[in-house]
Amino acid sequence: MSRRHPTKVAPLRREAVQAALAPFGESLTFPADAYISDEVFEWEMKEVFASTWVCLGRVEDLVSPGQICAVEVAGEGVLLARDPEGHLSAFSNVCRHRGHELAPIGPAIDARLIRCPYHSWSYGFDGALRAAPTLTQSPEFEMADYPLAGIALVELGGWAWVDLSGEAPPIDIHVGNLIETIAPYETERLITAATHTYIVEANWKVVVENYNECYHCSSIHPELCEVTPPASGVDRQPTGMWFGGTMDLKPHAETMSLDGRSRGIRFRRVDEQLARKVLYVTVMPNLLLSPHPDYVMTHILTPVSPGRTRVECSWLFPPEALVSSDFDPAYAVDFWDITNREDWAACEGVMRGVRNRGYRPGPMSTWEGTVYQFFSVMGHLYLGDGFVVPTVPVKQPGGSDPADGDKGLVADTGELTS
Ligand code: FES
Ligand SMILES: [Fe+2]
Repeated sequence: MSRRHPTKVAPLRREAVQAALAPFGESLTFPADAYISDEVFEWEMKEVFASTWVCLGRVEDLVSPGQICAVEVAGEGVLLARDPEGHLSAFSNVCRHRGHELAPIGPAIDARLIRCPYHSWSYGFDGALRAAPTLTQSPEFEMADYPLAGIALVELGGWAWVDLSGEAPPIDIHVGNLIETIAPYETERLITAATHTYIVEANWKVVVENYNECYHCSSIHPELCEVTPPASGVDRQPTGMWFGGTMDLKPHAETMSLDGRSRGIRFRRVDEQLARKVLYVTVMPNLLLSPHPDYVMTHILTPVSPGRTRVECSWLFPPEALVSSDFDPAYAVDFWDITNREDWAACEGVMRGVRNRGYRPGPMSTWEGTVYQFFSVMGHLYLGDGFVVPTVPVKQPGGSDPADGDKGLVADTGELTS
């Protein structure tokens, strides 16, 4: 199912991309240029990040009522303006006079108007030009001719999302059945208790690929293997541009923490069955969403260059957990900070390898079915097919596993909760 009209074809060898789209069990990973080429990176920014809904972060954390802030999407500045009533708008971060940026990329600032620092043209939070020194006095000058360029923005699940192209399908279509899948976590009411920003010296796709398999868990994540069986992954069939599934908690573990204990409060709509699982989902192109029984972790990826990615990791909790005066999110943060760093080291090792002249596309294990779905999404994009919803691959016989079990990559199309 194609989500929109074909895009431009990526500057990659067609046969190499097609090799990644071969049936699961026969497919290969992408060629090195997919990770190291400036041209491919620019293509991805334009045809992927500037062509669909990109998650910016939690609305509440980005900008308060009466504030503006500039963020970067696909290498461009986007200005967020939240009026005193709380209504959020997004504009291109560029003045209609001679194009100076309106605000530097960085934290939100209080503002009554959006004032260009160059010649002080000023705009309302609705983007309308309010003042243009000297020109305002000219009878020929029409203020209405120079509003800021609006950008499509929606709030969904408590996050702000923008579509630079203005041509992406509605966000409901983009996320499809993810809405029902994460409904028990009521993400719109969650509060960010901690955020870590990491700079990872690896291509953004290496980070996505790493997130989507636990084939590496027994090699590099001793702490994680204490609380979750690496072989317990079961994928869900998406109807939108996401992929991922659940992993089980070990019997003694209430959540993902160093000792398996939770110091929070279980989500009020998460039932006994769901409380034994952690969900790991990638929402294309840049949100890694990990709902646990008592907290939701997110990684928001911002590609900086072919070999560098900024990752903002946040830990969200239900408001009732935060009211306790001795609440401390460290049990979740410490566990995942250790695990994140183990992952970034692996991603950076992959990146050094991909730059090696000896790199060749490699085969994939049966444990890497979710990575295969990502290859499938990117492969179709590279070939100009547009956004194509991935299919959960059926398990191939004869796969070898690194640990004691079999990940059992089978489609589980049932609902998360009964
Ligand atoms: S460029 Fe903004 S006021 Fe001149
Ligand atoms: Fe990992």
